[in-house]
Amino acid sequence: MQLTEHQLADYERDGFLVIENFVNRDTCETLKRRADELVAGFEVEGIASVFSTQEQTRTSDDYFLESGDKIRFFFEEDAFNSAGRLKQSKAQSINKIGHALHDLDPTFEQFSYAKELAELAASLGYRQPLLAQSMYIFKQPTIGGEVVCHQDATFLYTEPMSVTGLWFALEDATKENSCLRAIRGGHRGGLKKRFVRAATGGTTFITLDDSDWQEQESVCLEVKQGTLILLHGLLPHLSEANRSPQSRHAYTLHIIDGVCHYPAENWLQRGRQLPFRGFEAWN
Ligand code: FE2
Repeated sequence: MQLTEHQLADYERDGFLVIENFVNRDTCETLKRRADELVAGFEVEGIASVFSTQEQTRTSDDYFLESGDKIRFFFEEDAFNSAGRLKQSKAQSINKIGHALHDLDPTFEQFSYAKELAELAASLGYRQPLLAQSMYIFKQPTIGGEVVCHQDATFLYTEPMSVTGLWFALEDATKENSCLRAIRGGHRGGLKKRFVRAATGGTTFITLDDSDWQEQESVCLEVKQGTLILLHGLLPHLSEANRSPQSRHAYTLHIIDGVCHYPAENWLQRGRQLPFRGFEAWN
């Protein structure tokens, strides 16, 4: 899986690259089934962490902060009624699973460390590619939450910038079920924010540039199941809430370069027992 010169030129120009039929249907279904099994095994009692890039309450949420080297489950914001009870089934209430599926679950591990992804990382110029983070995103029917415009380098900051997002469509993503949207070429602007651990506990955003995104210029990335979208770490992207009856499952991986500095104040940290890993041991 080497990118062609043409693909690399498109990626450099746009800040994203759509690669159709990257994952076969059976593999998509295997990953979906495995995510369902993980959710079925998750005990809801006592856990009510809600993930949203808008929601500031999560910033003091240890469940979120400790999830860098664990498999944890985050609810849709609209999952609970005013009495704090789930409005629909558990399986229809989870926003995402994060952030170390790729290291802790054998099914996701096998997929994430595949030779094709190692080759892809090499053709993007990584010297020491490391898989920093994985997320299984459900974008549930009717209640799938909005993801506000952001750059992935805000959350996975390295010096110099090295993060690339790999976004695998496990189901068709359409305008109706709120596919990804991206600002074409927007990666050529600088990083606007960093999301860091605050010295006083919790997390905070450091603003580097307070100008607004030109969100009206964003384009819809409607893609079929099995498509891989590469996202430059500085590319502004978003997705609207899903009010349709169709879910929009996706699996994401984020690669960083081990030759770059990974600051200790970044929100996502690993314990000594599970450092970020590269592809070497797998291929
Ligand atoms: Fe993102």
